[in-house]
Amino acid sequence: MAILVTGGTGYIGSHTVVELIAAGYNVVIADNFYNSSPEVLNRLKTITGKDIPFFKCDVCNKDEVEMLFNTFNEIDAVIHFAAYKAVGESVEKPLDYYENNIGGALCILQAMKRHNVKNFVFSSSATVYGDPEIVPCDENAPANGATNPYGWTKVMQEQILRDMCVADKSMNVAILRYFNPIGAHPSGLIGEDPNGIPNNLLPYIAQAAIGKYPSVRIFGTDYPTPDGTGVRDYIHVVDLALGHVAAVKKLFTNCGLVTYNLGTGKGYSVLEVVKAFEKACGKTLEKNILPRRAGDIAVNYANPAKAKAELGWSARYGIEDMCAHSWNWQSKNPNGYKE
Ligand code: UD1
Repeated sequence: MAILVTGGTGYIGSHTVVELIAAGYNVVIADNFYNSSPEVLNRLKTITGKDIPFFKCDVCNKDEVEMLFNTFNEIDAVIHFAAYKAVGESVEKPLDYYENNIGGALCILQAMKRHNVKNFVFSSSATVYGDPEIVPCDENAPANGATNPYGWTKVMQEQILRDMCVADKSMNVAILRYFNPIGAHPSGLIGEDPNGIPNNLLPYIAQAAIGKYPSVRIFGTDYPTPDGTGVRDYIHVVDLALGHVAAVKKLFTNCGLVTYNLGTGKGYSVLEVVKAFEKACGKTLEKNILPRRAGDIAVNYANPAKAKAELGWSARYGIEDMCAHSWNWQSKNPNGYKE
């Protein structure tokens, strides 16, 4: 028995591999290093003490995926992370996003069907809620509100999975809607390593703190929030990884299709996050107040009660640890995985 992790050398994938192995599962990683580095495999070996089977493969390539399933015939669940994820880029290259994200998922699901693999965990996002009317947001909120092609690929893939499960009652699927994953493994060996200028808040702050940027960007101070900056539910990537372990366990109870928010239930503003990071790194950071970023919403945070009740999972780390671990990773690896 083994769990296939597509995108297993990426940010969330690599942390999930660590927690799966700690929980006693055999893992197979498939990745094409499109947005990651082979160095991650060395780091995973250091953390887990294991040589984790790896298969270089593009999830959109039917022949390669077939070879993957033929090579590892003990796979009985798939956690599918491999996908494009940059919101801005998705607006510029929508066809690439639909082709890669939806095509990749379909290719994996068809291979699972051919090989009689019944258990699938899908990397979805709180972005499917768009601008939610009610916060904290629970799983019953309308989940068809994406504001960019990246988000729509998540909405569409969720629908594909629901349709598949109507047609095939033997399938078990966990749709996990992530809020804002940040932080890094406490060892500082793996973490988030974005290409180019980071889009997301935490990697940008972390790179400003090591001196790559003169200031942190604050996108908008006129939101209807207590301090005027956007509020999000930041979740430690290790907690998120543990959510996947809990979801895999649930699939093995033959649960059919289930959907869970993975968040902490607490919202922090941009300024609160910057303050927590300043405490973690022991420096005061310059702030550059800018207009709102197009497509951003004021507030979103999770109601994570369903995951707690049905998976027995809840986030344990708070914002201080998230920032401390992010700083630990960034200061030990100023250029990420690059030499
Ligand atoms: C975005 C995506 C989401 C994706 C998530 C993780 C949308 C609209 N958002 O979430 O789908 O799952 O990234 O990859 O689809 N901010 C700054 N300065 C910065 C960067 C961000 O002030 O340099 C602010 C933003 O305005 C926002 C908050 O920080 O209020 C969080 O931004 P970000 O980290 O980019 O995540 P989201 O936009 O919430």
